Amino acid sequence: MKSLAALIIATLGLLLAGQSQAGEAIVLRFSHVVAPDTPKGLGAEKFKELAERYTQGRVKVEVYPLAQLYRDQEELEAVQLGAVEMVAPSLAKFGPLGIKEFEVFDLPYLFPGWAALHAVTQGTIGKELLAGLDSKGIRGLAFWDNGFKIMSANRPIHMPQDLAGLRMRIQPSRVLQAQMKTLGVVPQIIPLPAVHQALEMGVTDGTENPPSNMLVQRLSEVQPHATLSNHGYLGYAVIVNKAFWDGLPRDIRSALERAMSEATQYTNRIAETANAEALAKMKAAGTTLFHEQTSAEREAWIKALEPVYADVAARIGKDRIDAIRAVTGLTQ
Ligand code: LMR
Repeated sequence: MKSLAALIIATLGLLLAGQSQAGEAIVLRFSHVVAPDTPKGLGAEKFKELAERYTQGRVKVEVYPLAQLYRDQEELEAVQLGAVEMVAPSLAKFGPLGIKEFEVFDLPYLFPGWAALHAVTQGTIGKELLAGLDSKGIRGLAFWDNGFKIMSANRPIHMPQDLAGLRMRIQPSRVLQAQMKTLGVVPQIIPLPAVHQALEMGVTDGTENPPSNMLVQRLSEVQPHATLSNHGYLGYAVIVNKAFWDGLPRDIRSALERAMSEATQYTNRIAETANAEALAKMKAAGTTLFHEQTSAEREAWIKALEPVYADVAARIGKDRIDAIRAVTGLTQ
């Protein structure tokens, strides 16, 4: 892997190239790690279209998908350093930056459905969480959905005890680590672009992701079994370098805020369908056997994962979890 410094130098080169091509236009680079045809990839393209339209071309948005510029943890450092203007890391990737409040989103079975989730992310709690990023040199603009994760592996995993002894790829999150350890799994932190190969080579046995990521990363080709557990949420915070954002002319910033608000509505509207379509495609391809949980199995998973809450409460405070449950309890 290239060092972050080398990547930053390469990116600065790109910036200069972008400026000379675009003349007076302000270049906003939006880097992300997934494919263009995922909820985040489509959201980034929608933001580009709207941002360029609403600023009448005074802002040029360059979208870099598939970790072309930065992978996982690197992208957060890159946006803090101003090597790229905008990224949208999954919420599971904020913890290692010292923003442990975001860890709450990784709790298993926290959100009973989309309405409850949106009451949190698009409501007061979401606004407070985004505002908390200011002290880290970044401005939080929006929460974008991907969807609910399913577990996949190289053997059937119907009951929680079926996972014992497996090595499972996770994102760099203490909560996901606790979740896997509670199931007797050996968690392995691996950047998404390397997961297909790790599964293919037998370095890791399984993973969790929403269907859209599973499809476009071709994980279904190397995972013979999956359980439609929908046990956890995977979403994103769209963030910008604060100095860049604060330095924009006021009218440009307002136009970009409008573009972001509409791109957020768009992304969160298509996410559920995008995942349903991805699941249908993988089912049709037939390389993975997708198991529908019975209600008894689902209850067993919920019970098995309950201890993760105590672990997380000790780290981020029970009051934070209670505040979310107070909102989701009203909307489920
Ligand atoms: C993952 O690493 O599995 C996800 O965070 C990727 C993404 O950004 O959807």
